[in-house]
Amino acid sequence: MKNITVIGSGTMGNGIAHTFAQYGFTVSLVDVNEAALSKGLQTIANNLDRQVKKGSITEQVKADTLANITTYTDLTAGAQNADLVVEAATENPDIKLNLFKQLSDICGEDTILASNTSSISITRIASVTKKPGNVIGMHFMNPVPVMKLVEVIRGYSTTNEVTSTIMALSRHLGKDPVEVNDYPGFVANRILMPMINEAIYTLYEGVAGVHEIDTVMKLGMAHPMGPLQLADFIGLDVCLAILNVLHSGFGNPKYAPCPLLVNMVTAGSTGVKSGNGFYKYT
Ligand code: CAA
Repeated sequence: MKNITVIGSGTMGNGIAHTFAQYGFTVSLVDVNEAALSKGLQTIANNLDRQVKKGSITEQVKADTLANITTYTDLTAGAQNADLVVEAATENPDIKLNLFKQLSDICGEDTILASNTSSISITRIASVTKKPGNVIGMHFMNPVPVMKLVEVIRGYSTTNEVTSTIMALSRHLGKDPVEVNDYPGFVANRILMPMINEAIYTLYEGVAGVHEIDTVMKLGMAHPMGPLQLADFIGLDVCLAILNVLHSGFGNPKYAPCPLLVNMVTAGSTGVKSGNGFYKYT
């Protein structure tokens, strides 16, 4: 496995491209326009600088990593030689299904098609491709170059061979992969999102303020970030989308998103990326 195509140069996509390129893979980074690609490349360069300053990589590794990445706005040109595609586009089922349908035509029949989706069914994504056995979930955590977990999600038809290849590849990237089955929210978000939702309900019901809720969870449970800060970091729109998948997927009211979360997203307060969420970002 040598040629990796990453689709989407946003927070997750640029982190995934950064990680593969740092480990010597040839990366084709695809997005819909040049502006998104140059923003993604700039973020990768900034994060590599941070690693150089901390002494965890050398200037040479930074230069080699950047040299391993080529950008494309054309999906066919960017994906036709891929051994593995990792899709990290917007968390929207129509966009993902359309992309996988196209990838199934563009890529060779041995290409593994992975999605970094945080909650959309891998089985559903696989169903629009010609070889559902080659489709798998490769769910990285933010910030990708730092976080050790890859949640590897087996769709209903994913083969044992494809699963073993992706588990081994994740270890090669210095990650600790965990294999899970394809049910709403998988494992990570099935457990994380109800905690975040409950923290928002705790705020909404006036039990405590933002700072107090986050401090209880940071100091009391040794979490690196409180749940409200983490929600801002993930994106409140992403949290809402995942809760909606859990709510409709299980039909259980315990996953219903807090009305405050719905209001904030509707008002455009989506967390760090919008400059506004439970905290303000300048
Ligand atoms: N790229 C490269 N390196 C980065 C980085 C990035 N984007 N962000 C941070 N780092 C590095 C820093 O250089 C630093 O490196 P050293 O250990 O070598 O010194 C290290 O990470 C720690 O960073 P900082 O000292 O700047 O800050 P910190 O100690 O406060 O840690 C954090 C920052 C790693 C983000 C930490 O706050 C944390 O772990 N937060 C929780 C993250 C989390 O829960 N992520 C999962 C979100 S859920 C998800 O992603 C999936 C989903 O489906 C929603």
